[in-house]
Amino acid sequence: MSAFWHWFVVIITLAFIAVMVWLFVATGKARVPSGTNKEGEETTGHVWDEDLTELNNPMPRWWLWLFYGTVIWSLIYLALYPGLGNFAGTLGWSSEGQYAEEMERATAQFEERFGELAQLPLAELAGHPDALRVGRNIFAHNCSTCHGSDARGARGYPNLTDGHWIWGGDVEQVWHSIYHGRQAVMPGFGNALDDQEVTRTAAFVQQLAGQEVDSTLAAAGRRHYDMLCAACHGPDGTGNPLLGAPDLTTGVYIYGGSQADLRYTIRNGRQGVMPAQRDLLGEVRSRFVTAYVLSLNENSNGSGDD
Ligand code: HEC
Ligand code: HEC
Repeated sequence: MSAFWHWFVVIITLAFIAVMVWLFVATGKARVPSGTNKEGEETTGHVWDEDLTELNNPMPRWWLWLFYGTVIWSLIYLALYPGLGNFAGTLGWSSEGQYAEEMERATAQFEERFGELAQLPLAELAGHPDALRVGRNIFAHNCSTCHGSDARGARGYPNLTDGHWIWGGDVEQVWHSIYHGRQAVMPGFGNALDDQEVTRTAAFVQQLAGQEVDSTLAAAGRRHYDMLCAACHGPDGTGNPLLGAPDLTTGVYIYGGSQADLRYTIRNGRQGVMPAQRDLLGEVRSRFVTAYVLSLNENSNGSGDD
């Protein structure tokens, strides 16, 4: 908050409280012109519609004290907790601090409960029902926003159940993808290739995946491919897990395999990011969720028994 808004909030808040107190004190003391009604009760002296009058009873004491009580309470609150602009309050409490504290406590409890189990080798953990239950839960809360609640992915987010791995499907590679994250860099070739050349290259990429395409178009595209793409995607198009360059021969795409999708990818490049879970989930949770992801693939390959 800038100094201006800090003081804006401080002054408005305190002035408001002061004005309220003044209002009650002042009106409590003020003598209003009075009269009496037919029953002989004291009134404010105003008369409406000939015989409507307003009784001039003082505010009930308890109500006044309740009011002063709330004023005192608000002042104590504002002294202890954040509320007055940038003033942090003498207790130093913050919602972030409380959140961090609770998360820390939850993590400590979690590690006490599951820390030992987590030390099993990942391949073994992937067959452990307790670990998978925990892992599924972690996945639902931390991964499904991108990879889908069934882990089947979405456009831009790889399917984690189909046995096709961009970065490799070994236990260690999957662990690396999750714990350390991945940053894919496919440069755009919009400057190097004109529209026609992009279309030819896209046709060749479709041919790599076994699609029926105009063969002269694809043959022309192959030249661009060999020159610009083979270094990362391999001369035969089977990709390179070290670079995260996808296998282009399977027909499985992160970003779609239509002519338009491929042309877009070739022209503009793609930079998919898998966020590292080291600092987000920590080691123990990452192990469980990795085990869960591994187990999904055992099932998809037909070797599991779900
Ligand atoms: C520097 C290495 C590199 C070069 C050169 C490169 N690519 Fe890529 N390519 C990648 C990476 C890495 C990805 C994955 C991007 C991502 O996941 O966000 C990728 C993704 C793709 C995709 C998307 C695949 C999918 O699953 O949706 C296509 C199609 C593709 N590249 C085609 C090409 C073509 C055609 C060329 C040559 C014109 C080329 N690439 C050149 C590294 C490269
Ligand atoms: C913000 C979105 C996002 C979240 C959250 C996310 N991922 Fe990813 N993940 C991605 C993207 C994007 C890629 C692909 C990176 C690329 O283009 O190569 C990826 C790739 C992966 C891969 C590698 C896939 C392969 O084919 O090699 C694994 C494994 C993975 N994620 C697991 C997880 C797990 C487990 C979680 C939860 C702890 C998670 N992801 C959370 C976006 C996300």
